Amino acid sequence: MMTGDFPLDVFQTLRTPFYYYDLQLLNQTLQEIHATKGDFEVHYALKANSNLRILETIAKSGFGADCVSGGEIQIALKTGFAPEKIVYAGVGKTDWEIELALNENIFCFNVESIPELHVIDELAGKLRKHARVCLRLNPNVDAQTHHYITTGLNENKFGINLSELHHVLNVLKTLSNVELIGLHFHIGSQILDMNVFENLAKRINEIQNSFSMLNEVNSQFSILNCGGGLGINYEHPNHIPIADFKMYFETFRKHLEIRKNQKVHFELGRSVVGPCGSLITRVLYVKKGSQKQFAIVDAGMSDLLRPALYSANHRIENLTSHEPEEIYDVVGPICESADVFSTEYQMNQAQRNDMIALRSAGAYGEVMASTYNQRELPKAIFSH
Ligand code: LLP
Repeated sequence: MMTGDFPLDVFQTLRTPFYYYDLQLLNQTLQEIHATKGDFEVHYALKANSNLRILETIAKSGFGADCVSGGEIQIALKTGFAPEKIVYAGVGKTDWEIELALNENIFCFNVESIPELHVIDELAGKLRKHARVCLRLNPNVDAQTHHYITTGLNENKFGINLSELHHVLNVLKTLSNVELIGLHFHIGSQILDMNVFENLAKRINEIQNSFSMLNEVNSQFSILNCGGGLGINYEHPNHIPIADFKMYFETFRKHLEIRKNQKVHFELGRSVVGPCGSLITRVLYVKKGSQKQFAIVDAGMSDLLRPALYSANHRIENLTSHEPEEIYDVVGPICESADVFSTEYQMNQAQRNDMIALRSAGAYGEVMASTYNQRELPKAIFSH
């Protein structure tokens, strides 16, 4: 079985589990985004990974930030993202978070409800600030991905329903401290089928047109934010280590009707950081059951929640062994039946102390770790 290029001698001196980040791959990915994005603006979605070193690397390459909490705004500023490139989304923004965003003069709020518009207007008035807002609209486009990471359907809690548009415009006319600058969409994550993005682009065109009819006064927005969602290849991280940014941006360039003076924004998370991270763990025991054999490793769902929460599949590599392959259930040490990384998984024969890599864990890995069972949070190490 082909494995990635890992500094195994270094790994062997370290206590497991830990996240390992390949910064060279991250930098190549950032270069690829720069090379393919044209004049689109890319905001990195911090929720995917907010490790300081990762954020500094991404900020240095000039991208903006997509934040979903006051904490993310603070860490974005601390790691070098420019306030005028920060967008702030989320269905439940608290007063202190809105005040922080206003005081830091971030670029804009992605607003998810009418009550939120009122609160932003009121707080901006109090602080004598002016809030730029994009309306997050729910386009009712199916992302055809796991239902836990589908966000753009009418049944989801996100965004403003299209049927409310007329009402929102009337409300906006009464608010003096907020300025509507654009529309925002995000339909889901880990999307590999470009037809889904084509559908989103076409839906945005329809929505823009209907907006023009509804809104006599200002039918021109300067911002169209298409969200994130581009998927990565979890099966073949060695062969396809960089997401297909070229196809992704081309799909929007081809199908989105971009009006004069309009800027198109994206909020990419997983595709930026997913491939560069692996969770490194050791085999503790190989236990043979009557029908199964278990490779019990020292990482668990507290370190990488995705398999337990979304039945996600991460490629698993035995970095130590060159023995023939066998079939294992690869499981963690946590007292939960869901603490399973994979069932019936074929990997090189395992024994105690073998080093195992759970690949493509750079996105929604370390950030979702917890101390459940009073475990330590996993540390992070970096190539170079
Ligand atoms: N913008 C908004 C408004 C979002 O809600 C998200 C992700 C993104 C951008 C970034 O999407 P990406 O490019 O990463 O697909 N924990 C789950 C994924 C949750 C995604 C949440 N929203 C997982 O591990 O699969």
